Amino acid sequence: MKTVFVLNGPNLNLLGTREPAVYGAQTLADVQQLCAQACVRHGLALRFHQSNHEGALLDWLHEAGALHAGGQLAGVVLNAGAYTHTSVALYDAIKGTGLPLIELHISNVHARESFRHHSYISPVARAVVCGLGVAGYGLAIDAIAQW
Ligand code: DQA
Repeated sequence: MKTVFVLNGPNLNLLGTREPAVYGAQTLADVQQLCAQACVRHGLALRFHQSNHEGALLDWLHEAGALHAGGQLAGVVLNAGAYTHTSVALYDAIKGTGLPLIELHISNVHARESFRHHSYISPVARAVVCGLGVAGYGLAIDAIAQW
């Protein structure tokens, strides 16, 4: 059974209470459940994590990279939060591991402040899911299951 990593960056632990008009009312626990259901549908194992620390995200990407090298990874869904717009280190990790990865945003970042329009992740992502709310997580896993 191959594994899907779903990684969430800073402030995503606040889902449900953080700007509900932008991010919706569902919590990160709800998102984890949605991802678990999608993985069960496709016969995939799930690793689901959130951290407010860039280094923790890097460590999980490296771990996913090792699984990828061993042929045991289905893919990665990464919502890097604000690190999307700042992190050369995340870009380097994804490029350096060759991870098959979907960049995900709950909100439509292109309809928001201009500092959200640039992503360090997009050039090294296979696809970008953006603006579909938390439903995007399930759809990203559906796409990974087709790879
Ligand atoms: C986000 C969009 C980012 O710009 C923001 O910093 C986040 C969440 C989203 O899911 O819409 O923390 O990645």
